[in-house]
Amino acid sequence: MDHFNYRDGRLFAEDVDLTRIAEAVGTPVYVYSAATLTRHFGQFQKALDWADHLICYAVKANSNLAVLKLMGDLGAGMDVVSGGEYARARAAGVPGDRIVFSGVGKTADEMAQAIAGGIRQFNIESEPEMEILSALAAGMGATVPIAVRVNPDVDAKTHEKIATGKSENKFGIPIARAREVYARAATLPGLSVVGVDVHIGSQLTDLDPYRQAYAKVADLTRALRSDGHSITRLDLGGGLGIPYRRDNSAPPLPLEYGQVIRETVGDLGCQIEIEPGRNIVGNAGVLLSQVIYVKHGEGRDFLILDAAMNDLLRPAMYGAHHDIVPLRESVPGAEVHAYDVVGPVCETGDTFSKGVELPEMQAGDLVAFRSAGAYGAVMASEYNTRPLVPEVLVRGDQFAVIRARPTIDQILSRDTIPEWL
Ligand code: LLP
Repeated sequence: MDHFNYRDGRLFAEDVDLTRIAEAVGTPVYVYSAATLTRHFGQFQKALDWADHLICYAVKANSNLAVLKLMGDLGAGMDVVSGGEYARARAAGVPGDRIVFSGVGKTADEMAQAIAGGIRQFNIESEPEMEILSALAAGMGATVPIAVRVNPDVDAKTHEKIATGKSENKFGIPIARAREVYARAATLPGLSVVGVDVHIGSQLTDLDPYRQAYAKVADLTRALRSDGHSITRLDLGGGLGIPYRRDNSAPPLPLEYGQVIRETVGDLGCQIEIEPGRNIVGNAGVLLSQVIYVKHGEGRDFLILDAAMNDLLRPAMYGAHHDIVPLRESVPGAEVHAYDVVGPVCETGDTFSKGVELPEMQAGDLVAFRSAGAYGAVMASEYNTRPLVPEVLVRGDQFAVIRARPTIDQILSRDTIPEWL
């Protein structure tokens, strides 16, 4: 459930008419609902209320400082994958001891930044990373908590570009080698082994892969304990999918996911960490866009929008579907037209969706891409020198611009022409 609903024929975010935002801020623009974010976070809290737990929101899904502040104030921890994301989490007021650092290619500088600033744990993804982290920490007079990310070789049954738990993926250490790696970690002076980490992929719509992966983590935890390691924490990753279409069966709910966690690892007495991103923020956001032209092609009509692949990359990159709805609700029974919805960027891939049924549209009409809160604004670029899309947060009847649209002058001012040219 989210807080984007029609009222008197107009699409609202909570108590704010989205047309008002489009007029005030211009389009394209991302709009997020604070109430939806809060609700989704609460569902994970409830799903894990049987355990000592920390929900480490995956910053990569939507890293706007206002979103992070809201999550942090609700008690969320953060899962970060770069020095930049670490800095964002801290700038949003999240204490270091609620931040976990994941990622296959952490640099020494990024690790030092997090050690100095405070960190809950590093999720180690390779042996060379482990050696460097230990040397760094020891040099700084610190001992840092670590979990090793294991690759359980489980098929997450999701899009190949966002599956991470198969042995051919670059992520984690093969679970079969984990005991050996933990044995080495235990000898390193700068590290303190506290947990096991796993993340098998994103947009999972089936709980079975989780069940398989977590069962393997449970076995490994027992084996590691018998080897003498004190494993007190399990980081079980993120990935729970969301419904992208209003008209098909919904993926499992956080509550059912929490049940799988309880059944597979609940008896180990570990503190549970999870790293959901999309499930919290995906359906808490929409992208508003205006029709520039309606173009009648051969056998098809194109709706040319002012949003493009640079603003919302998911359709071009993964063939992802986002429902596209008019801000003015179509009257029941009214005639619908099929449109190929495209952006203005000079690439055929700049096509959002084909054959979208909408009421008859005209230039100037407004539409919303649903489910755009996760991996939307964060993956936007300035391709075609289109200004980075702005973001707005709604709470109740108020809204605020939480990232302004840059001016073309600001964009140009970031380049320099060398004096010798
Ligand atoms: N933890 C780790 C280590 C991750 O790599 C990810 C996502 C998450 C947590 C959060 O996963 P979520 O709960 O959001 O599914 N750009 C793609 C998604 C990439 C996900 C990468 N890792 C998309 O637009 O579908």
